Amino acid sequence: MLFWTIVIVPLLAIILHTQTNYLKPLQDLVFVTIYKRLLPGQEEGLAEVKTSLFQDLGNRVLELGPGPVPALTYAKDTSDVEAYVVLEPNSHMYSDLADVAAKYGFMASFVPALDTANSDSRNAAAGEDQARPLTVVEGTLDSNAVPLAVSANAPYDTVISSLVLCSVRDMQRTLDHIQSLLKPGGRFIFLEHVRHNTRRQPNKAWWARFQSAISPVWSFFLGNCHLDRPTDVVIQNMNGWSEVDVKYHKPKSNTMWNSLIPMVYGYAIKA
Ligand SMILES: C[S@@+](CC[C@H](N)C(=O)[O-])C[C@H]1O[C@@H](n2cnc3c(N)ncnc32)[C@H](O)[C@@H]1O
Repeated sequence: MLFWTIVIVPLLAIILHTQTNYLKPLQDLVFVTIYKRLLPGQEEGLAEVKTSLFQDLGNRVLELGPGPVPALTYAKDTSDVEAYVVLEPNSHMYSDLADVAAKYGFMASFVPALDTANSDSRNAAAGEDQARPLTVVEGTLDSNAVPLAVSANAPYDTVISSLVLCSVRDMQRTLDHIQSLLKPGGRFIFLEHVRHNTRRQPNKAWWARFQSAISPVWSFFLGNCHLDRPTDVVIQNMNGWSEVDVKYHKPKSNTMWNSLIPMVYGYAIKA
């Protein structure tokens, strides 16, 4: 007992406190392993919403955290896309991402963190001359500086975040960058799970408290994913949009899982 109090507890506290530096590679691996198992069910449940949201992407697209399946796979037609840039901090996703992109006629090149000048073309299957570039940047919009490969392609017609704002380190800063990277009239398209909005549904107060209670443990094992972010409210309250449309997803079944991660989706247009 004394050993636990004096050694293990402070050690765990230090590790958890500095998790960004020391445990990130392990957490990324755990996340990708779990996520790939959940992916088929998730895609089936959200296919209708994703197809309606990602139909029309415009010419210049920035997607945050595509994982292995970028939004372009849901687009009606991607022939207008001139630049497709993705920000993905988890490098375990890259090989699947390149394979999927290749099937849709995009050739992935990779810009590693802290190296904005070089890119490494690791395309698996496309190889054809007509394949369009998909730039995969190892990074985020969490800090003050936007990765060069992202700002160099701005302004964007469309910025996409699908199940990502739950995991970013700094949501407000990420949203501010998203808005500034869009051209006026450009669209921010989002699909996110959120804390139950108890103003809309007071009967979900218990669920909202439960989401907050388990969120710290959940986020540690699931790639910093938080269950209790009021992302819908934050987007609606931000200045700088000329129009915001938020819809609350009605899942086909009323399962515990659906109550734990209620989804919202829609768009915001930059003024
Ligand atoms: C739950 S997955 C969603 C994947 C995909 N967008 C989808 O709709 O299925 C979350 C993704 O966001 C990525 N991610 C985590 N933090 C991020 C950040 N700060 N910026 C960009 N992507 C991030 C993760 O690596 C992961 O690929």
